[in-house]
Amino acid sequence: MKKIALFLFLAVTWMAVGTIASPALAQEIKSLRNAVPLDQEPTPPDFKKWQQDQHPLPRDFVQQPPLIPHTIEGYTIDIRQNKCLTCHSWTMYKETGATKVSLTHFRDRMGTELSDISPQRYFCVACHAPQRDAQPLVGNTFQPVRSVKGK
Ligand code: HEC
Ligand code: HEC
Repeated sequence: MKKIALFLFLAVTWMAVGTIASPALAQEIKSLRNAVPLDQEPTPPDFKKWQQDQHPLPRDFVQQPPLIPHTIEGYTIDIRQNKCLTCHSWTMYKETGATKVSLTHFRDRMGTELSDISPQRYFCVACHAPQRDAQPLVGNTFQPVRSVKGK
């Protein structure tokens, strides 16, 4: 009986604290919309200043999806076409000088090897991110693993 009373007490306190604290918290949390009201369109950040095309960027850990070192403006990926594969597929990479997609991209989530790009790897930009010349929003002291950094 005591346990139930304690539980009820805790539950009620928790709900009360939640009700009082949440409006205060909501003001502090800053979303990508900033404080723009929901019925108005926020001005999107200018994502279009892509970095100049460059050579592959260093990786930070071995399993990392490599960053995209070139612009991808206008590169459509939909049910009919995948612009990325017109350069990165095994049939095209020699002609275009692009890195060919690795073998892992032909494996489905059960580990079955397929003869074409796995559906879970079709939307390249779900994992590979294009870059722009911007200062990091917050500093960090992350160091790449030795197996990719050398020393
Ligand atoms: C017009 C051809 C072309 C298209 C289209 C293209 N790429 Fe590339 N991509 C390249 C070339 C060429 C390189 C390699 C540059 C080098 O080695 O100097 C490259 C490099 C890359 C790399 C770096 C690989 C590494 O080992 O670091 C990634 C990741 C990549 N592209 C992803 C994409 C994605 C995702 C798309 C579609 C949104 C795409 N690319 C569309 C030509 C293309
Ligand atoms: C689910 C995440 C994911 C998706 C989706 C994905 N990739 Fe990758 N990609 C990775 C990872 C992780 C690596 C690094 C390890 C590896 O090779 O599997 C990689 C590696 C690569 C490489 C470098 C290969 C090498 O030999 O160094 C290229 C090029 C590439 N991806 C292109 C693409 C293209 C083009 C697409 C779309 C058709 C795509 N990826 C979709 C995760 C993904």
